[in-house]
Amino acid sequence: MASERDVRAGLQRAGQEHLLRFCAELAPGERAGLLAELAQLEPEALREHCQRAAAACARAPGPPPFPAARLRPLPPERVGSASRADPEARRLWEEEGFRQIALNKVAVLLLAGGQGTRLGVTYPKGMYRVGLPSQKTLYQLQAERIRRVEQLAYERHGSPCTVPWYIMTSEFTLGPTTEFFKEHNFFHLDPANVVMFEQRLLPAVGFDGRAILERKDKVAMAPDGNGGLYRALADHQVLEDMARRGVEFVHVYCVDNILVKLADPAFIGFCVLQGADCGAKVVEKAYPEEPVGVVCQVDGLPQVVEYSELSPETATLRAPGGKLLYSAGNICNHFFTCSFLQTICREFEPLLTPHVAVKKVPYVDEEGNLVKPLKPNGIKMEKFVFDVIPFAKSFVAFEVLREEEFAPLKNSDCAARDSPSTTRQALLAQHYRWALRAGACFLDAHGARLPELPCLPETQDPPAICEISPLVSYSGEGLEVYLHKREFQSPLVLDTDRARALLLQGS
Ligand code: UTP
Repeated sequence: MASERDVRAGLQRAGQEHLLRFCAELAPGERAGLLAELAQLEPEALREHCQRAAAACARAPGPPPFPAARLRPLPPERVGSASRADPEARRLWEEEGFRQIALNKVAVLLLAGGQGTRLGVTYPKGMYRVGLPSQKTLYQLQAERIRRVEQLAYERHGSPCTVPWYIMTSEFTLGPTTEFFKEHNFFHLDPANVVMFEQRLLPAVGFDGRAILERKDKVAMAPDGNGGLYRALADHQVLEDMARRGVEFVHVYCVDNILVKLADPAFIGFCVLQGADCGAKVVEKAYPEEPVGVVCQVDGLPQVVEYSELSPETATLRAPGGKLLYSAGNICNHFFTCSFLQTICREFEPLLTPHVAVKKVPYVDEEGNLVKPLKPNGIKMEKFVFDVIPFAKSFVAFEVLREEEFAPLKNSDCAARDSPSTTRQALLAQHYRWALRAGACFLDAHGARLPELPCLPETQDPPAICEISPLVSYSGEGLEVYLHKREFQSPLVLDTDRARALLLQGS
């Protein structure tokens, strides 16, 4: 057990002795817990972390916008488009993606270590139900998309294959996520192909450069950002596990995007055929002020430039066709080769500069009272997964349609955007479009035909509720056999049982 003397000496060196100020009044178990936690913080690293956080925050509101002369859009030959490419190119990309999947060379990696503070639930975001008729959680939708894409690759290539699922968690999400997967029998995936690993935590720091105590016996710790991925990969020998399985390509994505296409064959195939070591899916920015990062070049190197780093003049620049010049909105959805990830972990990870996130961090005041601050009081230092893009030797971007691929769950229903309601609407609108395309007709409760509205405004519910299980269709394919020229009363839940029954009816 760590001795109080040693811990105190280390904290003195780090300038953080205040973390022991309630030590004397703690019960023995609490004291041991606090000392054990503090003993893990290396004094020099702690001192540097706290000084860096306070200094970075003092420089806020962040770096000034990039001068326009340093920026360029990505060269067109490095950008693919799922919607604008000719059908033959798309077919080739998909074919290549499925080939790699069938060869067991593709893995998916979920970033699920975030605390989801804006959504405000006490459990991991992946366990959230947005209110679909099936009551599925985000984790279940993702698991079923993996099963379906494996199935599709099998049907094309005739050999059973596996897309292993790597899940990066943090101290906050590992326990409940593991339990949840066990309770749900890993959603019928082989548990050997679901690999969870934990990212590191860092102390949250006050504006005065002092680490924050969240309880008398506990330092306020926060995950080190989704760019903590690279240290976590090395900490847990994840790349070695991938190598053992023969994985060469990794699709990395965020837990909160309800429309995410795991191991998207078109994206994988495009990146592989371009010889890319790193790729990013992007959606067209909706309007110049939209607060999303854009993928472009800075001094000739690809990079995600944050919204705040683009001047209003640059953000509004238009390309000759009228589209925004800097329109490639980053959606945190990436392709990496394993050899690129190895290079990052071995050489470049220490060069990634942490970003400052100023957040509300609950703390104990000098008298030992718990305080829930009403305004931000603490600094969390986070690395971002996209920070590695400038190190790519061959970077590509792949533009996809927002309504087909991007609807993140960030906020509670109090917010107008990125909430449970908007993500549910996005998924149901997509499935409704797929059903119409496959020839379905929808009826109301009295048997009257409902109008067909394939192009809905983003925030409008479709005229009919239709939810299609990912086990039945991954991206709208193969639905005609169940739906063509058939009438359905809303709501329609097309799960595997219903699909089977429809096939029997039809035969
Ligand atoms: P966000 O930046 O939206 O953060 O994460 P969050 O934690 O989910 O939500 P807020 O900001 O507290 O409300 C984008 C993605 O990165 C993952 C999240 O789980 C999500 O998939 N993430 C974030 C990590 O894996 N680790 C982190 O340290 C932070």
